[in-house]
Amino acid sequence: METRSASASASVEVKHVTELNRLDLDDLCDATDAAIVDGNGFGWLNPQPREQIQRYWKGVLLVPERELWVGRLDGTIAASAQLQKPPRNNEAQAHSAQLTTHFVAPWARGHGLAAMLLRAAEDFAREIGLSHMRLDVRSTQTRAIELYETNGYVRWGDLPSYAKVGTDLVTGFFYVKKL
Ligand SMILES: CC(C)(COP(=O)(O)OP(=O)(O)OC[C@H]1O[C@@H](n2cnc3c(N)ncnc32)[C@H](O)[C@@H]1OP(=O)(O)O)[C@@H](O)C(=O)NCCC(=O)NCCS
Repeated sequence: METRSASASASVEVKHVTELNRLDLDDLCDATDAAIVDGNGFGWLNPQPREQIQRYWKGVLLVPERELWVGRLDGTIAASAQLQKPPRNNEAQAHSAQLTTHFVAPWARGHGLAAMLLRAAEDFAREIGLSHMRLDVRSTQTRAIELYETNGYVRWGDLPSYAKVGTDLVTGFFYVKKL
């Protein structure tokens, strides 16, 4: 499923992917690097060797419980969102999925890609019969928090030891949305 839109001077596109060619994988790794260097939102705190980031994304495409969307700005991959579907052995939580690696490279922000990715993952979750979406975010991610709250995510918990950046512990916020 593909969603396209055009902001004032750029074309934006979000696509559910099951494979990536070499160029797209490279662009996704570049976008990941840019998000890490920007310092927010990705699990990695420092730039990683290219092979490691490539291995990560290739792995995502191989795991049956994971679904990946990429966002393109003027044709170049600049953003992603991932859905972690419930594991098959967890019947009690089979109604809900986790949104993760939702980010837009700093150079591609402000064109609506983040909201398009969120919508695409939510639509897919509904289509496969899920009723709830969960996500967690560092309390320092003000733009992401604003986006999730405007889109109906309800904060149900805080964890003060959620992340450690340098020597500082950073609180995490936990959200859920009824789809
Ligand atoms: C959170 C994050 C994904 C949001 O990215 P973003 O670029 O600010 O969000 P969008 O791409 O949806 O852009 C929205 C803005 O673009 C504007 N915009 C421009 N053209 C648009 C269009 N065609 N459609 C919708 N919005 C558009 C909107 O008005 C909005 O601006 P506003 O907030 O000033 O009203 C991004 O800041 C990020 O990657 N942060 C780090 C990672 C992170 O925190 N991830 C979450 C936890 S994993």
